[in-house]
Amino acid sequence: MGMMTKTKIVDWLSESTKLLAEISELASLETRVILCHVLDKPREWLVLHPDFELEQRQLDLLNLMITRLQTGEPLPYLVGKQAFFGLEFKVTPDVLIPRPETELLIEECISWLEEHPAKRKLADIGTGSGAIAITLADRFEDLDVTAIDISAKALDIAIQNADLLNVAHQIKFTQNDLLENIVDRYDVIAANLPYIPTQKLNTLTVARYEPVLALDGGQDGLGIINRLLQQSREHLKPGGMIILEIEEGQFESAPILADTLLPGMKKSIINDLANHPRILKIMV
Ligand SMILES: C[S@@+](CC[C@H](N)C(=O)[O-])C[C@H]1O[C@@H](n2cnc3c(N)ncnc32)[C@H](O)[C@@H]1O
Repeated sequence: MGMMTKTKIVDWLSESTKLLAEISELASLETRVILCHVLDKPREWLVLHPDFELEQRQLDLLNLMITRLQTGEPLPYLVGKQAFFGLEFKVTPDVLIPRPETELLIEECISWLEEHPAKRKLADIGTGSGAIAITLADRFEDLDVTAIDISAKALDIAIQNADLLNVAHQIKFTQNDLLENIVDRYDVIAANLPYIPTQKLNTLTVARYEPVLALDGGQDGLGIINRLLQQSREHLKPGGMIILEIEEGQFESAPILADTLLPGMKKSIINDLANHPRILKIMV
């Protein structure tokens, strides 16, 4: 008898939201997102069809997804996508899930590019899903972008995203270790590189699901940024800008490092809306 009972959308939603609420503040939103994903319907459809009866196959899949969320797997990996700066990016466990914090770096780049209409050569180092490179290419159709990542698997996703978002013609994707052996110079060197100190990373849940290669910044978290800053001297065009996402705790150490490696250039730290230091900007 139990096997024959049909589950209605409205009932599944209330039950699984209750379950998920034990571990997530966004339970109600998350259950709706996976329901839309599994049924391949827009959000409004759910509202209009609360009595729609789920097939057993759909129910099994939905319940499996709830279990995976309960164990801490990030929702974007389950549904294979994440919104960033108004665009939708494909994501897999081979790329970092683009974060809202990184939108601040995008905003800074947009203002700078608007103020410098003749400077249109930009490099995104550690492109991951392509979030930075693609968002800026989408915004400035004359922007000439080089997107670099050491991970071939990440680049594969970034290339797919550039195709999906119709900016592939503006972006050159290159598998490389930072700017090693690259001869080009850029007006903007933008990077959200791994910056979490190894010790700290071991205590964080992000490292369970997201690529360690995207997160681990070495002993003090500044190892990779240090190398990029050293290389940047030879790769920045006159009047250009280096813009880096950093960790909150690096708001003193990162500018000191930049002063040592790039003396004479102006450094500024930009805080996010919660007033946490997030961005290091370096200009001539
Ligand atoms: C924090 S993720 C940022 C991804 C994306 N830019 C974003 O903001 O969502 C850092 C990226 O840097 C890449 N990476 C790590 N070490 C690198 C290196 N030595 N050279 C180039 N890319 C590197 C990782 O593979 C990862 O994709």
